[in-house]
Amino acid sequence: MLHSKLPSEHCSNPLSWLSQLPKVELHLHLEGSLEPQMLFDLAVRNHIKLPYENVSAVKKAFQFTKLQDFLDIYYQAAKVLVTEQDFYDLTWAYLLKCKEQNVYHVEPFFDPQTHTERGIAFSTVITGITSALEDAEKQLGISSELIMCFLRHLSEEEAFATLTLAEPYLDKIKAVGLDSSEKGHPPEKFSRVFAKARQLGLLTVAHAGEEGPAEYIWTAINDLKVARVDHGVNAIHDPKLIDYLKESQMPLTVCPLSNTKLKVFADMSEHTILDLLKLGVCVTVNSDDPSYFGGYMTENFEALATSLNMNQDQARKLVENSIEASFCNDHRKQQLFALLHRYV
Ligand code: ADE
Ligand code: ZN
Repeated sequence: MLHSKLPSEHCSNPLSWLSQLPKVELHLHLEGSLEPQMLFDLAVRNHIKLPYENVSAVKKAFQFTKLQDFLDIYYQAAKVLVTEQDFYDLTWAYLLKCKEQNVYHVEPFFDPQTHTERGIAFSTVITGITSALEDAEKQLGISSELIMCFLRHLSEEEAFATLTLAEPYLDKIKAVGLDSSEKGHPPEKFSRVFAKARQLGLLTVAHAGEEGPAEYIWTAINDLKVARVDHGVNAIHDPKLIDYLKESQMPLTVCPLSNTKLKVFADMSEHTILDLLKLGVCVTVNSDDPSYFGGYMTENFEALATSLNMNQDQARKLVENSIEASFCNDHRKQQLFALLHRYV
């Protein structure tokens, strides 16, 4: 569906043009899109006891001072995901939200080790997720590429074992990524696993410079040979790295609401994404774990408009960066650019 209205014509809500704006999401953890209501529904379906009385008690627990506070709750909640249908429902609910918010292409992450560690088969996880992604392409017009993340707090050996489990499904996976507790787990811990993944034909991305130092961004680039850096906001502390990111146009998948919820920035007014954009770095906007951090794609863009006075040119450039940084083929990129330029 194409949008013919110009931003200025959406006047009842001054920010409604951000909902209409065609968007692309490159940094989204499917397990982080588990809404409290679905958490309860799946707990009932799978006879799992939750440490919360009700949905509002869950929402109250979503107060974080650092990444690890969030991860502890996120891994606990993911235990309600058991069957292929559960993984389908989780993914489908996210994709319906994308449809509502005019997100036309997505590259979600999934964390197989969070599930295989509990005895859930790799095939259950990936089949549920990819069935929903395939249905979304046909029924919702949303294209996708899937990224399999390794948990960096676990060992290199466990990451290798996960890559082996993934080998029969390589036609369904575009890239490998690296997530979970960053500090003390530098990218180079996984150099050999990422080298094997590249040999298998996979692209690579990694979380780096979210809570960890700029040095981790360098090693993600040099040792893991990433095509994009996830977060990367701590690059701002290293002028040589900023020069490199500008020259190379290495994309950063920035997650504004995540960064304020996890206290990477004390307040959205202090977020540096638009400073990086002005410097010519290829920054993009993403939601990370929307059910935990207070919003999906539109809410992330709205936060930048409200707290940083992001204008329409900046919003368009951020989406252009996402299209350019995506793993879709040139034909799909041209379609996405056409959708965007018809809108703004
Ligand atoms: N897993 C899910 N969300 C994450 C984040 N923001 N950082 C690291 N690992 C994650
Ligand atoms: Zn993330």
